[in-house]
Amino acid sequence: MNANRLMVFLCGLMIVASASVAAEKRPGNVKNGQVLYQQHCLRCHGATLDGKGPDATKLRVRPTDFHKYLSRVKGDLELEVTIRRGRKLTAMHEWDSLLTDEQVYDLIAYIRSAVPHLEVKP
Ligand code: HEC
Repeated sequence: MNANRLMVFLCGLMIVASASVAAEKRPGNVKNGQVLYQQHCLRCHGATLDGKGPDATKLRVRPTDFHKYLSRVKGDLELEVTIRRGRKLTAMHEWDSLLTDEQVYDLIAYIRSAVPHLEVKP
């Protein structure tokens, strides 16, 4: 391998390495997430993330209680997709046009710091 090829190879390696780090770790800021949660999500999902916010009783499909098993087993990506796209036929509208990527990751970090993800063992 000559020097040029070696450089190309090393650059490629670095790009692959940094991309996989970015995909695994999306370090959201818990504090910012908490503030955003209180501003946008608390009225439905509740102060303790139990789905009993002040507006929850008005809704036919109740907001998710993040403490429930079925919610806790969801990975960050599943939460991210629902936050970004919303859920059809429910009051959970899309947030993609209202929040930045950073803010979405902050919110996920906050939710998961308050109610940790539950690993499912096969
Ligand atoms: C107007 C009420 C309302 C607001 C405001 C709201 N949600 Fe929701 N959310 C819901 C409802 C309703 C569901 C769907 C419940 C279901 O499908 O059983 C839901 C579902 C979700 C889910 C899916 C959870 C799971 O386990 O599948 C996530 C994640 C979520 N909301 C996050 C947020 C975040 C973050 C915010 C603030 C940016 C927010 N929601 C604001 C009502 C709301």
